[in-house]
Amino acid sequence: MAGERQPRWKRRAYNITALREEARRVLPRAVFDFVDGGAGDEHTLRRNVSAFDDVPLYPRPIGGSASRDLSTALFGRRISMPLIVPPTGLAGLLWPDGEAASARAATKAGSIYCLSHGSICTLEELAETGIEPRWFQTYIYTDRGLTHEMAERAAAAGYEALVVTIDTQMLGNRERDIRNGFVIPPRFSAGEIANMATKLRWLLRMRRTIPNITFGNYRRPGGANDLTTLHQRMLTLPDQGMQWDDVAALRAVWKGPLLLKGVLHPADAAEAVANGVDGMFVSNHGGRQLDGAASALDALPRVADAVAGRATVLLDGGIRRGTHIVKALALGADCCTIGRAQFWGLTVAGEAGVAHVFDIFRRELDLTMGLCGLADIPSIGPDILARPGKAARKLAEVAAAPPSDNGTEDKPEPVPEIGGPAGPEPTRYGDWERKGRAIDF
Ligand SMILES: Cc1cc2nc3c(=O)[nH]c(=O)nc-3n(C[C@H](O)[C@H](O)[C@H](O)COP(=O)(O)O)c2cc1C
Repeated sequence: MAGERQPRWKRRAYNITALREEARRVLPRAVFDFVDGGAGDEHTLRRNVSAFDDVPLYPRPIGGSASRDLSTALFGRRISMPLIVPPTGLAGLLWPDGEAASARAATKAGSIYCLSHGSICTLEELAETGIEPRWFQTYIYTDRGLTHEMAERAAAAGYEALVVTIDTQMLGNRERDIRNGFVIPPRFSAGEIANMATKLRWLLRMRRTIPNITFGNYRRPGGANDLTTLHQRMLTLPDQGMQWDDVAALRAVWKGPLLLKGVLHPADAAEAVANGVDGMFVSNHGGRQLDGAASALDALPRVADAVAGRATVLLDGGIRRGTHIVKALALGADCCTIGRAQFWGLTVAGEAGVAHVFDIFRRELDLTMGLCGLADIPSIGPDILARPGKAARKLAEVAAAPPSDNGTEDKPEPVPEIGGPAGPEPTRYGDWERKGRAIDF
């Protein structure tokens, strides 16, 4: 049956890797690299994606279902699949009103959009569009007054969850940006402009926006609000000496779901739960901060073990395929995020591009679940990784409890299953409503 003919960009962007290539064609190199790049040698950036290759799936086709239910619950909301948009600053550099375009696409796809502290629009402006649900991301600032002011503004503007990013207390060593002389706002030399014939689409689209780009949330009435000044100021604001007490203090004032972003160590995951945090992004900031940090997927099993169902776990980093979502959920995540993938869609076609990204993931996730014999999200578990590969086995070994000293050292060690032996049924989807919390600043 001849289907409706799709626009050229959609036909070319048949998966996330192809979409990234489309975005590369559209963006000036310095802007593309700003989004695409990571810190240092980009080891962590690459490993975020390649770690998924070490986790083979073991499909069980008999006992599946003719149709799959991809929906899941996140903090009392039903979302259409376990995939949300994490905070990604400067969306408005890729598409005019980029934050609203992306947020609209995400919520129309039945997902959730998390606005970055570094958005071009203000958090109030996004709220005025009526797009819901929305989360807001902030930092712990040296000026605790500012930390609380951001939280108060987010609560007043109806943001449902507060995400506190803890891995950007200093800016990572982004060497592509150094090489390209990338500055905010972007400036292009005469030579670069002459070489930009192929980038005209982006230049024309952004010509009115670029001179007015700003970091909306940091503007002050009567203050120096030019982008360069704001950017310099922003870099100095996060507190390099933040403590768990600061997390507890935020917990005391923010009544909605509170999430930490940038958790890799299981001890931090446990500490976060002890401080009343409701969820965490297992994340290395998309490989943009500490090169050499564990990939998000490598860190996931130990974090999930430490959390033991007491908080919601999001896998943030490297998601490019529907199979990746299944693997992350099988290793203990409740939900996944798409940072760059969403940005490639935004770059190529604005709201329609981000909608296309969700369509790609929905199609791939449904196909993966169908082929694996998985009827719905709760049926995704460690069983689907029943015979993990060498690297995945290593992951499980690290996650396993330390050897006891009760005379069993000489016995050969059993090969642990990924995810460990079946324990008590975890509270997978945050019993948020049962906790009876509400946003009541
Ligand atoms: C261009 C860009 C801007 C980002 N801005 C922020 C930000 O403002 N705050 C934040 O917590 N994370 C930010 N991130 C990190 C993402 O939230 C997310 O951790 C990362 O993109 C996940 O990896 P992925 O791109 O492989 O999906 C940004 C990432 C990119 C690529």
